[in-house]
Amino acid sequence: MPRTSGRLEHFTESVIRRMTRVANAHGAVNLSQGFPDFDPPEILLQAAERTGREGPHQYAVTWGAANFRAALARKQSRFTGLPIDPDEHVVVTCGSTEAMMVAMMTACDPGDKVIVFSPFYENYVADAILSGAEPIYVALRPPDFAFDPNELRKAFAQGPKALILCNPSNPSGKVFSREELLFIAKLAREHDTFVITDEVYEHIVYAPCEHLHFAALPGMFERTLTCSSLSKTYSITGWRLGHLIAAPEIIRQARKVHDFLTVGAAAPLQEAAVAALALPDSYYLELQALYTEKRAVFLHYLDEAGLSYTRPDGAYYVMVDIGEFKCPDDVAFAEWLARTVGVAGVPGSSFFREPVNHLIRFHFAKRLETLRDAGTRLLGLREKARGVTWP
Ligand SMILES: Cc1ncc(COP(=O)(O)O)c(C=O)c1O
Repeated sequence: MPRTSGRLEHFTESVIRRMTRVANAHGAVNLSQGFPDFDPPEILLQAAERTGREGPHQYAVTWGAANFRAALARKQSRFTGLPIDPDEHVVVTCGSTEAMMVAMMTACDPGDKVIVFSPFYENYVADAILSGAEPIYVALRPPDFAFDPNELRKAFAQGPKALILCNPSNPSGKVFSREELLFIAKLAREHDTFVITDEVYEHIVYAPCEHLHFAALPGMFERTLTCSSLSKTYSITGWRLGHLIAAPEIIRQARKVHDFLTVGAAAPLQEAAVAALALPDSYYLELQALYTEKRAVFLHYLDEAGLSYTRPDGAYYVMVDIGEFKCPDDVAFAEWLARTVGVAGVPGSSFFREPVNHLIRFHFAKRLETLRDAGTRLLGLREKARGVTWP
């Protein structure tokens, strides 16, 4: 049999998605893969019911249905303060996942370098390998996950084509400050580098932190490829609706990549999602209040269980320190946790370039009763871990 592509030997299947299968096998509460166990807003359910019957059922315009792009541009202009033109600045994609791949293939040639902060969302390394780019890692150091300005300067000195910025950040929950973003912007300008942002958690930020759109910083629109999606904001991860927003010259190229990758996102769901994009500011305030409560409930259980963690400022993940259990392998610990305690998380090592194996990432995008169930199980962790001989 012929050999499959050598590219695929440089990354494994997703650890996050594998932990979901482990959770299912052991009947564990699944706090690994970040998706809600509650319904999207009623207005979306009704719209999907309608478009399921009335259509459209055929391909939309490849870079996005006109009314979806118009609604998206209106909403993103409102939140970013940028005059986003639905015909010039937007490609609608199958989630931010596709938007990121499109952005990487649009910005980079094989052999180009790309700065990736570590810890990182695991897709970025696969995106880099698939587009032939080589990552330069820059550490975000716990507890506040700040970068060392000199390390970042040195990374830029290697002449990267792009920097990937996940803000708010998965897995760390970091929300980059204005000062940090301006420092990145200054280096990007000096070294003529693209900035590819992944802002899927743009509306999940905890007061007093605020999300700042990188593209809205002075002079940054022309070099920023902003990727985001409707998945997290409207609790519709399965609808696969995302977008890339950038300057017209970038978008003209990105549309070609997108067209040949997927042709387009689901037409009936684009039509249905127009309703979500027109929701008033109160929706976003309620979303923040909802996640603020979920964070409080889950962190309370971690406190009760005596576990230490870094308090997230954004997104819906928390990194819990399992160092005290002296397990040398966080993958083995995560599997034991799912099997014995009945809570599934993701081994932290899958997010780090550095040899970090004392963290487990949990997400709290769950109903309060699910979080209480998981939290109660975690209260028994220490007792169950007593006397365990780790592999
Ligand atoms: C940082 C980040 N980007 C992208 C995604 C996937 O987003 P989408 O559903 O829009 O493809 C996730 C999902 O967990 C994520 O955490």
